[in-house]
Order: sequence, then structure tokens, then C-alpha cells
Amino acid sequence: MVKNTDIREIKKSAVELISDNWALVTAGKKDSFNTMTVSWGGLGEIWGKDAAFIFIRPQRHTLKFIDSEEMFTICFFKEEYKKALTFCGRNSGRDVDKVKETGLTPVFLDDAVYFDEACIVLKCRKMARYDLSPDGFLDSDIESNYSNGDYHKMFIAEIVETLVTD
Ligand SMILES: Cc1cc2nc3c(=O)[nH]c(=O)nc-3n(C[C@H](O)[C@H](O)[C@H](O)COP(=O)(O)O)c2cc1C
Repeated sequence: MVKNTDIREIKKSAVELISDNWALVTAGKKDSFNTMTVSWGGLGEIWGKDAAFIFIRPQRHTLKFIDSEEMFTICFFKEEYKKALTFCGRNSGRDVDKVKETGLTPVFLDDAVYFDEACIVLKCRKMARYDLSPDGFLDSDIESNYSNGDYHKMFIAEIVETLVTD
């Protein structure tokens, strides 16, 4: 049973949700979509809106779908789905059918796709996209994350809907 709620009703810390439990970021439409695991990101507020912040490397197949849609979803899962999230974080949608391989069930809204097995779903509307650039790095250790020069694209998105299962 899925119900709409306010992001403030989610009592788990954003660090625990994203960094420790991980999430799936999904974008596209019924006929063509893709999903990938993320563990870097944040939840908070900017420009007077509840917001999510995600960081996507340029080589991710999912980036193409995020770029071409207004919305994407961030899905959080219980521990039992960690294997599925590991799979979605180690394999590209260019090479495998992640839905078929994980058994996750996509749910298609008019403007977004999420997974039925998720315990929390954030529907996010893109507000801004930035190319991370070494010009802005103040800590010299950061560069070690980018031996290929594959600096992340940062998306700032308004959280327009929060769905939870009871
Ligand atoms: C735990 C975990 C966290 C990850 N976090 C991110 C992330 O925040 N940003 C990113 O660009 N890639 C991240 N990845 C890597 C992508 O999920 C991975 O490259 C995936 O296969 C991309 O799939 P795609 O090519 O179908 O988009 C993570 C992988 C794992 C296993």
C-alpha cells in the first residue's frame, strides 16, 4: 500500500538513507528507462524548496535519461534489496536488463518511473545541473576520485512527491 506523505515525515537521517543504505536513481518513460545505484548525494532545502542533490558521472547510461526528462525518482529500499542495488551499481543498462536480472517491478507514472519494492520514493523535478570542475576543489584530496577526468554532473531537484509504503 503506497501513500503520499511529506518528506519531513521521513525520520531516518539522509546520511543513513543515501550513504549507508544506498538508493536507485531512475529516469525515463515506460518504453525506455534506466536505473542506477547512488550513494553520494543529499537531501535538504534550496531556493525555498525541499530538494535532493545527486551526483552522476558522465559515463553512466542513466545520465542520458536524467538529461532528457524533467523528473527522476530516488528509491530507497530495505536491507533485503541490497543485492539488487549492488547489481544495479555494478552493471550498466547498456549491457544488461536490470529489471529482468533483479526482479524489481517498475511502476510507471505519467512522468516518472519508480520501483514497487521501494519503501520510500522521492519524485524529483530537475531545477539545476552543474558540471563539477576541479577549479572549485578546495581540498586537494578530491582529485583522487577523478583519475579519468570523469567529473560528476550535479543535479539539484525539487522533491515534488514523497511516497512511502506502510
Ligand atoms: C554503492 C554504489 C554507489 C554508487 N554511487 C554512485 C553515484 O553516486 N554516482 C555515480 O555516478 N555512480 C555511482 N555508482 C556507480 C553506478 O551505479 C554504476 O556505474 C552503474 O552501473 C551505472 O549504471 P548505468 O550505466 O546503467 O547508468 C555507485 C555504485 C555503487 C555500487
